[in-house]
Amino acid sequence: MKKNICLGITGGIAAYKILDLIKLLKKDKFNVKVIMTYSAQKIIPSSSFKKLGIEVYSEMFVSGFDYRQILKNQKIDHIEISRWADIIIIAPATANFLAKIANGLADDLLSTTLLATNAPIVIFPSMNSNMWHHPLVQKNLQKLIDIGYHVIDPDSGQLACNAVGMGRLPNIKKIKSEIEIFLQKKSSLEKKRIIVTAGATEEKIDPVRIITNKSSGKMGLALAEICYLKGYKVLLLRASSAVKSRHPIPEVIFENSMQLSKLIKESVQNYDIIFHTAAVSDFAPKKIYLQKMDSSKNYVLNLIPQNKIIRQIKKFNPNIYLVAFKATYKSSKDEMINKANQLLADTQADAILVNDLAKSGVGFRIDTNEVYLVRKNKPVKKISLDSKLNIARKIIAELKI
Ligand SMILES: Cc1cc2nc3c(=O)[nH]c(=O)nc-3n(C[C@H](O)[C@H](O)[C@H](O)COP(=O)(O)O)c2cc1C
Repeated sequence: MKKNICLGITGGIAAYKILDLIKLLKKDKFNVKVIMTYSAQKIIPSSSFKKLGIEVYSEMFVSGFDYRQILKNQKIDHIEISRWADIIIIAPATANFLAKIANGLADDLLSTTLLATNAPIVIFPSMNSNMWHHPLVQKNLQKLIDIGYHVIDPDSGQLACNAVGMGRLPNIKKIKSEIEIFLQKKSSLEKKRIIVTAGATEEKIDPVRIITNKSSGKMGLALAEICYLKGYKVLLLRASSAVKSRHPIPEVIFENSMQLSKLIKESVQNYDIIFHTAAVSDFAPKKIYLQKMDSSKNYVLNLIPQNKIIRQIKKFNPNIYLVAFKATYKSSKDEMINKANQLLADTQADAILVNDLAKSGVGFRIDTNEVYLVRKNKPVKKISLDSKLNIARKIIAELKI
C-alpha cells in the first residue's frame, strides 16, 4: 500500500519547488496532503497546490468553526493529519519555523501537527547563508536533531537573494529520494547492524607527544550518518580527535590502535557489516617515555610495526561483511586496483574502497573524495569526485546495504 506523506510548507522562497515534488510523488502513487503556513501562502497561493488534486490545509480554525460539531464528529484536523501521516516533511523549513518548533510552540496548524504526531519528521531547511550559519539557527537545529527529528542540510550554491553560499533547498529528486529512504527505514523490519570506525589513532611517545596521521574521520562519519538516517543500528568507533556527528549515533571513543582493536574484538560479533575507515598507525614507538622528553636533547625513536587490525576482523567474526579503505599516494588507476585486490586477498575483506591522496579534492580533512570500489568477481566501480556525504550514499547504494 502506498504511504501517506504530509508535506509542510513554510514561507521560504523555495516553496514553489514543492509543486514539482508533489508531481513526482503523485506519479509514484504516494498519498499526499499539504499544510501551509500563513507566510508560505504569501509566497505561493494554496490554489497552485489544490490544482494538483491534493488536500491543502492551513487554518487551525476553519471558517464557521463550531465546537459542537467537533465534539459530535471527534475530528480535528491537526490530530487527523498527525495520525494519517506515515512521514511528515517540512520543505522548505524557514529559520522562523525552526525556532518555533525547537521551542515547542504550536501557534499554527503545521507546528501543532508536529507536536501531535508519532510519524518520523524530516526537515529541509532553506534560507540565506548568513541566516543558515547564524548560531541561533544552528542551536535550534541541534535541539531538533537531539530529539530525533531528521535534518537534511541545504545545498551550497546560488541563492535566490543573489548571494552564493549554503542555504539552497536540495533538488526535488534528492528530496524525494530522502523521503523514500525514511519510508523504507520505517517499514524495514530487519534492521542491519553496522559498525563504522573513523579517525586517526594516536600512539604515545611521551605524556604530551604522539604519532598520528591527518585523518579527520569525515568519510567514516558520513557513512555512519547515512546508515543511521537509513534506520540501521549503528555503532561508531570514533578517534578522540575525529569530527563529531550532529546526530545521536551511539559511539565509543578510542585513542590508540590497541584500544581500537580491543573495541572491534568486543563488538564485532553482534554486527553484520563493518566499514573500517579509521586510519590506523602502522607503527608505535617501542618505548613510551613516562616523563615529558627534554627538548634540549637528541632522541632516536624506535618504531615497531603494529598488528594490522584489518587482518584481524574476519578472524573475530568470519560472517561480518568487511568494507575497508585503502589510501594510496600518486598511484595510477591500475596501481590502485592492484593494491585493493592484494588487500582483498590478504584480509578476506568483501570490498575495498581505494583512493589516491595526491589527487586534488581527495583525501584527509577535506569534505570531498573520489574512490574506486573493488570487490572479488565484480567489475570495479568508480565513484567520482563528490562530497563525502554523497560518496557515502553512493557506496551504500552500490553495496545494496
Ligand atoms: C520573498 C521572501 C522570501 C523569503 N524566503 C525565506 C527563506 O528562504 N527562508 C527563510 O527562512 N525565510 C524566508 N523569508 C522570511 C520568512 O517568510 C519569514 O521569516 C516568515 O515569518 C516565515 O514564516 P513561517 O515560518 O511561519 O512560514 C522570506 C521572506 C520573503 C518576503
